[in-house]
Amino acid sequence: MIRVLCVGDVSGDDGIRCLKRLLPGLKREFSVDVTLVNGENAGKQNSLSPETARQIYEAGADVITGGNHTFRNPALREMLETDPCLLRPANWGKKGVPGRGVTLVDRGRYRLVVVNLIGVTYMNPAENPFYALDEILEALDTPLVVVDFHAEATGEKRAMGFAFDGKVSALFGTHTHVQTADAQILPGQTGYITDVGMTGVVDSVLGVKKEIIISWMKDHLPAKFTLEEGNSALCGVLFTLDEKTGRCLEVQTIRREEPLRREGNR
Ligand SMILES: [Fe+2]
Repeated sequence: MIRVLCVGDVSGDDGIRCLKRLLPGLKREFSVDVTLVNGENAGKQNSLSPETARQIYEAGADVITGGNHTFRNPALREMLETDPCLLRPANWGKKGVPGRGVTLVDRGRYRLVVVNLIGVTYMNPAENPFYALDEILEALDTPLVVVDFHAEATGEKRAMGFAFDGKVSALFGTHTHVQTADAQILPGQTGYITDVGMTGVVDSVLGVKKEIIISWMKDHLPAKFTLEEGNSALCGVLFTLDEKTGRCLEVQTIRREEPLRREGNR
């Protein structure tokens, strides 16, 4: 039996702080074997820098997954090429795209494949994720496969879950920053949740200052989306997997708020 903790989109400096404060304790509490963290929004301006990626590793991540903002910071490209555990969506494009979307966590007793994919409904164009995952699975020789499906539409995410039910160990959604209440084990014993939620400021709109979003939604004037600051929560999902069959035995959502911040506690 292995436990895979999947942490949702870390948002900005406060998300990083929250991750550093809460992740080590959660890993001990739930005897976590492998930790995946979606980090595409963890740096400045909804991007990821090499330095921020290193902080996510220091906090306890084994694999960092990405999404639509992965390529926003050009400084990350070299790290994407050289670090096998830093993923970008596998279906971003077929040729000329830096990095990889699939990695292997080999612990001897078990070999876990992590796949990162991006949706195409209400998102920018990418290769079809259904065919992309079919192709990836054909080449694998381990039953343990966990997929971060970074997508906007709930329907696309649930369709992916059912399309690969029994073919992957678990599929979890990221990108929408709000944890959904549909964590379940699908009929074919694939662990599933539409979105694991965000690791970032609680009193925000998906991590961004609420006043900016409200004003933008009222007046439709261009605005710079500045990240909110304040007390944060870590959101994720914990999958318990049978390492021999790759089946999901248990799924549990996690939402842990950091202790109230006091002055000078940053
Ligand atoms: Fe995203």
